[in-house]
Amino acid sequence: MKRFKLLMILMVLVFMPVFFVNFELPNINPKAKAQIQNMTPPTVLAFTRLGDPLPGLEGKIFGRFQSGKFQFERDHLVEEGLGPTFNDFSCVACHGFPVTGGSLDSIDDITFRIGRITRGKYNDLERLGGEPLSNKKVVPGCEPQTVPAKAQFVSPRAAQQLFGSGLIDAISEATILSNADPEDKNKDGISGRPNMVFSPHFNEFRVGRFGWKAHWPTLIDFTGDAYIVEIGISSPDFPRNRVTNGKKSACDTANGPEDFDGRVTNNFFDFMALLAPPPQNQLDASATNGKAIFNSLGCVSCHIPRLTTANLSERPDLITPVLANQEANLYSDLLLHEMGDELRDGIQTGIALANEWRTQPLWGLSSKRFFLHDGRTRDISKAISAHGGEATASRDKFLKLKSTAQKDLINFLKSL
Ligand code: HEC
Ligand code: HEC
Repeated sequence: MKRFKLLMILMVLVFMPVFFVNFELPNINPKAKAQIQNMTPPTVLAFTRLGDPLPGLEGKIFGRFQSGKFQFERDHLVEEGLGPTFNDFSCVACHGFPVTGGSLDSIDDITFRIGRITRGKYNDLERLGGEPLSNKKVVPGCEPQTVPAKAQFVSPRAAQQLFGSGLIDAISEATILSNADPEDKNKDGISGRPNMVFSPHFNEFRVGRFGWKAHWPTLIDFTGDAYIVEIGISSPDFPRNRVTNGKKSACDTANGPEDFDGRVTNNFFDFMALLAPPPQNQLDASATNGKAIFNSLGCVSCHIPRLTTANLSERPDLITPVLANQEANLYSDLLLHEMGDELRDGIQTGIALANEWRTQPLWGLSSKRFFLHDGRTRDISKAISAHGGEATASRDKFLKLKSTAQKDLINFLKSL
């Protein structure tokens, strides 16, 4: 009987999204739609609203966006594998502000990473339930995950916005590597380097690009990791439940991946890959001046305004051709930079050291509540003042600006 109930619940969850498949295009105003269809790709993106799918998605592919959104928003159940320990019931719980696909709306949604140094070597404490902790919630009757006493570093992490994730995923590795300058050969004080990390999905090392430390190379890898870490559901690329306090939990009765064919994981991926990038606002006089200041302070050395996505012959696997040959205005080089002591958190991931961070993309900044990797501030100028290391010269110039010039710069950032 219990089996039957479980089967029914699973059938509903798995097939429900299919009902969305025949939905029509989102209600963009018809004039804009006509214009979009006659345009070359890069300009197309300007027409979307926050949380919209990429423009120009028709039929089945738009259905996949809707199904993915449904899965992203729904609460997961113990019967399908939730937990035993987990951080929240749904993806949207931490990626819901101001709309689905956004970032955290309350500081309570912060999660933690842990680590320590044992005899000079970094230890991610994964064997004790570590590096990203799934310790905020527990299925009733199961053992909760505690912060291990051995953890020397406990570092808070704020959720990223997911708008435009498909574009970030579609940038070729060669494009990212072309901006790297690990030995600072051009002597500008900026020496971005790529993280190199293992992809369980593709079974090889690749250039990292997602996450605060660029510690996941592809969107599908991050998706599987988020499912097991945040919700406690295993899937084909991440087939086992994590341990609780170093041991297999008595509640872990899973035999094989809980999302057994990866269907739900792929649904999440579809939604994120098809989410349009954040719309950029028109610049008024102050923001136009701010843009010039942004360039002159050297912010652009790391926050590179635009990277172009791969073309279809380089990436025939792209979920939609709309993602090919696009200009992604993300304001990041996706590389790691040494950012000084104020931002050092002790955690090392891949080759990223304790004070190294991926240049945070600035698109979507106007719709975020909390800034920096640990969400420590709601004030954009404080986020800039915390920059150090390779960004010291740039930060010092910012601090020396007259207050009207600082305001112009912030107005520009708020247009992104
Ligand atoms: C409890 C909060 C929480 C939940 C629930 C959650 N996330 Fe996240 N998410 C985060 C945090 C924190 C980060 C940043 C982690 C880091 O970079 O160290 C993040 C980052 C991401 C990123 C990387 C984006 C980028 O540009 O770097 C993706 C993709 C993502 N999450 C997908 C998901 C999916 C899919 C789900 C549901 C299966 C999910 N998240 C559920 C907190 C959460
Ligand atoms: C050396 C590279 C580098 C330079 C130069 C640089 N940044 Fe950053 N920026 C980063 C990194 C890396 C982060 C993420 C740091 C973290 O969260 O610990 C970041 C984060 C930010 C954030 C917070 C974004 C968020 O969503 O939390 C803002 C705002 C920002 N930078 C603006 C600027 C401005 C304005 C300038 C020029 C005055 C500048 N940056 C110069 C690398 C750089």
